[in-house]
Amino acid sequence: MSQRVKIKALLQSQQTDVDVTVKGWVRAFRSNRFIALNDGSTNNNIQIVVDFENTDPALLKRITVGAALSVAGKLVASQGKGQTVEVIATDIEILGDSDPDKYPIQPKKHSLEFLRENAHLRFRTSTFGAIFRVRNTLAFAVHQFFQERGFIYLHTPVITQSDAEGAGEAFHVTNFDLTNIPKTDTGEVDFKQDFFGAATNLTVSGQLEGELGAMALSDVYTFGPTFRAENSNTTRHLAEFWMIEPEVAFNDLTDNMDLAEDMLKYVIKYALDKNAEDIEFLTQRLEEEEKQKPQNERSEMSLLEKLQFCLNHDFERLTYTEAIEILKESTPNKKKKFVYPIEGWGTDLQSEHERYLVEKHFKKPVILTDYPKEIKAFYMRQNDDGKTVGAMDILFPGIGEIIGGSAREERLDKLEQRMDEMGIPKDELWWYLDTRRFGSCPHAGFGLGFERLVLFVTGMGNIRDVIPFPRFPKNAEF
Ligand code: 4AD
Ligand code: MG
Repeated sequence: MSQRVKIKALLQSQQTDVDVTVKGWVRAFRSNRFIALNDGSTNNNIQIVVDFENTDPALLKRITVGAALSVAGKLVASQGKGQTVEVIATDIEILGDSDPDKYPIQPKKHSLEFLRENAHLRFRTSTFGAIFRVRNTLAFAVHQFFQERGFIYLHTPVITQSDAEGAGEAFHVTNFDLTNIPKTDTGEVDFKQDFFGAATNLTVSGQLEGELGAMALSDVYTFGPTFRAENSNTTRHLAEFWMIEPEVAFNDLTDNMDLAEDMLKYVIKYALDKNAEDIEFLTQRLEEEEKQKPQNERSEMSLLEKLQFCLNHDFERLTYTEAIEILKESTPNKKKKFVYPIEGWGTDLQSEHERYLVEKHFKKPVILTDYPKEIKAFYMRQNDDGKTVGAMDILFPGIGEIIGGSAREERLDKLEQRMDEMGIPKDELWWYLDTRRFGSCPHAGFGLGFERLVLFVTGMGNIRDVIPFPRFPKNAEF
């Protein structure tokens, strides 16, 4: 038997009338004659032509949707429409049967909710095949972008003693017997007796450790899982998500914005080039979905146009203060259409405000800077006005915040003062403060929520559909 060839390569093959072996899963079988076989290398199936008159009927019966097959045969130019080549089967081996009455994934349109409940099998649909190939490409492109620029990929810990964002949304990590937790004399949990001798949690961000690396290696980035126990049951939040966090010594806020914009454009372009077919498929999928909506709610641009638009335009850069002025004067604010009306300076922006700025006002990606210090983390660099910090959030159409970052407070006295004001324990972060004691320097970084990027590039509407096995409140199955 000839060596197995992936279906993507077969479909691109210039050579016909050669013996080939293909392996994959049956997507459809019609007229006892034509098998659509897929192996995940491409969204397109290879057509297998079965000589049903000379095939054992018992074998024919076992060619069911979902079954795994190995097929040997001849690759020929296709007689039919819809494909350029097909395989005339000479030998079909059933590697794994699939009971057609029980197999959940049928050759018809399933709802995304149904597929989420069958996340173990949803890879076998065209939509999820495309999503996870695009996700793979984006991950690779992120590494390539940073590697080309001489960044060091730093692995920061998953288990930590600190809550980098200070938002109190961390998952505890313990190996205490939960039915018998050791207590101190004063009745508090005695973490000294726990595995690490201290209270620990899953990391919410690798930033603080990333900063330590940048203070010697200059340009570093992390790319790992992060965890947040925030109870937000939204289409934009996961309890476990992947974050990319570059941290760069000697960069200021403008350098930081430039780096983020370059990175986003680079990885989106990379996916457009590498996964043209998948993005074309996802563009059509979205168009079908948009047709279900009332005319006035439909997106003006197709997915492909949106991605191209993002590449071809500079992101709009403005301060939080300028954004508040725009929002205050906006029609939805005056007509009381916002759930959270904009009354004055100082409150955090909600997703409805971010999306108004991006989708209605500027109609392109927006970078907001210099937020009030009260609504941002302790480590952000304080501006001279005493009110704002050198923060930046990048807002994307359909997504809202895709990146959050800042210039870091490199001045020890200012940092300590802010930590005191915000009740951040300085003794626990002695190692972080040490970098400000020994050779401190201006530096900046940001965090890109990887799944939000995948959402944008695939045009999907729910973040639970762009990670293989989503974790969210009340769900950690698979
Ligand atoms: O804005 P965040 O909280 O920033 C940080 O964690 C900083 N330490 C990053 C840094 O400067 N190094 O999170 C960064 C990004 C957000 O913009 C968003 O895209 C994503 O992470 N994100 C989430 N994605 C999915 N589910 C969640 N629950 C998310 N929370 C944040
Ligand atoms: Mg943020």
